[in-house]
Amino acid sequence: MVAIPIELQPLEARRLIRTIDMAPAGTAAGAALVAARLGIKTSLCGAIGNDAMGRLVMAELTREGVDVSLVEIIEDLPTSATLIPIDASGRRGIYHASGAGRHTRVTQALEAAVCGAGAIHYAGIGSRNLDGGPGADLLEAAAHRGIMVTCDLISPSADAAMELRRIMRYVDVFMPSAVEARFLTAQDDLLSAADIFRQWGAKSCVIKNGAEGAIAVDASGNRQSIASVTVDTVVDTTSCGDSFCAGFIAATISKRPWLDALRFAAATAAWVAQGPATLGRLESFEQVDVSLKKKDKP
Ligand SMILES: Nc1ncnc2c1ncn2[C@@H]1O[C@H](COP(=O)(O)OP(=O)(O)OP(=O)(O)O)[C@@H](O)[C@H]1O
Ligand SMILES: [Mg+2]
Repeated sequence: MVAIPIELQPLEARRLIRTIDMAPAGTAAGAALVAARLGIKTSLCGAIGNDAMGRLVMAELTREGVDVSLVEIIEDLPTSATLIPIDASGRRGIYHASGAGRHTRVTQALEAAVCGAGAIHYAGIGSRNLDGGPGADLLEAAAHRGIMVTCDLISPSADAAMELRRIMRYVDVFMPSAVEARFLTAQDDLLSAADIFRQWGAKSCVIKNGAEGAIAVDASGNRQSIASVTVDTVVDTTSCGDSFCAGFIAATISKRPWLDALRFAAATAAWVAQGPATLGRLESFEQVDVSLKKKDKP
């Protein structure tokens, strides 16, 4: 719940807006929702509160086909929630209420699931029960089995740099946003930031940069620039980064080579940008593929 100070005046107390959407979102749940929409068998690990928000999150994830059996319910905490008002030009405000999400922990069931996974997308940096060792141990087990590990951030604090140094040797593809990369490395140039993340241990690095696209440095140190897909009407870019990650993972699992997978990622995000909330206008893997093959606007 967020208290926003508003001066109410007679006849102006009610403002009509176009729409209000509610959806599971964020680096973990948002990416999971999109991966499931792309047809990937997806399981989410996380934590929610025993509240209406948590029930909605579980229902929507389940409806989309995400396995939520690893999501824990924490009785005395609220479900983490974010309110994002978006104005007509697409600018966003972000009001976040922290909750159970930051209390995600490693369980035996999670350890077993990780060892049987085809890919792990790690979004646990900043979680009090994962930072400092448990998250790194989990990723080490995955890396030991040759499972692809990708990693993205959500609102990192300065402490995230220390945790990243701990886990990065197990990360195949590190995928932060440009803002996050600049914050953590103090480098304005994104390729220089990617070099630093690779020095910390990541095998490869993709830095997402909004409508400007993304830069990538692969495991051999080759540098690429990935153009975003131009769309006629951008409605809501929230979760573009999460959908970019999900698209990349879905394409990689489908044996697409590095650059093709990154282009698929950008096309996935472009469909998401064209509608509200986490999924936007994204329908399926085939939809993204067709839009790419036509070299057409999605
Ligand atoms: N306006 C846009 N038009 C087309 N594609 C976009 C637009 N904004 C973002 N994208 C695509 O989405 C990708 C990721 O976007 P962005 O850099 O905003 O990620 P992010 O900051 O991690 O987002 P979030 O955390 O909200 O999911 C970009 O690399 C680009 O391919
Ligand atoms: Mg992001």
